[in-house]
Amino acid sequence: MVELPGDKSISHRYAMLAALASGRSEIENYSPAADCASTLECVGNLGAKVERLNGNGKHRVAVTGAGLDGWKRPRRTLDAENSGTTLRLLTGLLAGQKFDSSITGDASLRRRPMKRVIEPLSLMGARIEARESNFAPLEIHGAPLHKIDYALPVASAQVKSAVLLAGLLAEGESSVQEKVRTRDHTELALAEFGAEVRHESSTISVTGRPNLEARNLSVPGDLSSAVFFIAAAMVLPGSKLLLHNVGLNPTRAAVLDVFSEWGAQLKISSVRSEAGELVGDVMAEHAPLSGGVLSGARIAQLIDELPMLAALGPYTEQGVEIRDASELRIKESDRIAVMAENLRRMGARVEERPDGLRVEGRSAGALRGAEIDPHGDHRVAMALAVAALGAQGETRIRDAECVAVSYPDFFSVLERLLTR
Ligand code: S3P
Repeated sequence: MVELPGDKSISHRYAMLAALASGRSEIENYSPAADCASTLECVGNLGAKVERLNGNGKHRVAVTGAGLDGWKRPRRTLDAENSGTTLRLLTGLLAGQKFDSSITGDASLRRRPMKRVIEPLSLMGARIEARESNFAPLEIHGAPLHKIDYALPVASAQVKSAVLLAGLLAEGESSVQEKVRTRDHTELALAEFGAEVRHESSTISVTGRPNLEARNLSVPGDLSSAVFFIAAAMVLPGSKLLLHNVGLNPTRAAVLDVFSEWGAQLKISSVRSEAGELVGDVMAEHAPLSGGVLSGARIAQLIDELPMLAALGPYTEQGVEIRDASELRIKESDRIAVMAENLRRMGARVEERPDGLRVEGRSAGALRGAEIDPHGDHRVAMALAVAALGAQGETRIRDAECVAVSYPDFFSVLERLLTR
């Protein structure tokens, strides 16, 4: 059985909203990811009180919020490190403050585009300066914001969330329209903390200036981390694995449909709702996978799982083809190029394309251990570690500790599962 770390996306949102609420929120199973520690560090620098209450092997934190108007000018530049969610969502909240602030990140994050949040926030009245108008560090000149009705030009939950969070600080109702449905954790969390949120077809609206109330919440296990173990069960014949307390939010769970379509036997049980988020147990049993093509609208809902699905290519009958996924090139690394490069090093046949890649099937026998360079990208490192389980010989992953960005215990949990 595997107990998963708390969901990274949900942890960020609970921490930020708790920091804006009045009173003390306790968050159970807060993600141990370095990314979520960055968020805690940032909200601490903005005036929220952060207590780490770890116990029983679970991460628990308490965040005492300063209230909607209670944040203070941070004494130093905020550092989101590797975390795009921290930087983009906080930019939405900083844009409407009465003070100026600056926020930056590590070398990877400083290469990722920020214009996508700067544009809508500027339309709301924000003043944000960025390197080449697009890259961190961002200098955010706090200003009164006005409401917006914004049609998202990119399928991005981070952009949607930055606008909705900025909308909290504006008078009136702000709305975001999305062509493709993306993860809705911000909407669900806003409602939990007492904001008024409406969801009508593809438009999400939030009413500004709410009284946010502190809440005690528990974060579901991270499905995006669970996927590495489900994939490992598909690579290794005879595997049977129970994943406990996994987040099953429908805007995140498309990967489970893909596994089922490809022939995996997944049994989902004990499904319940916690603070609007679906949670349940997933039993995964080894099965041969067909593979197939992943494209179109579902790409946005599979975005973090695509490295793992690509790495399963050699283990499938038809191979795995990913299209319409150029967003992968601007993640923590260029995930198309880095996956293609490393899978080839392991002996897989890969065709790289501008918007995706194709990994040949029925070639697991040709996979061999190799020197892998995940380019500091946590999901690439974990995906290739799983692919390596069925390869001949030893695989060495350079800077494998980068997995701490989302899952510090990944290798120790994997090792425990393999030695049983
Ligand atoms: C996230 C949204 C996605 C995802 C990222 C987490 C979030 O990014 O890839 O890992 O928590 O909102 P985009 O919004 O850039 O697609």
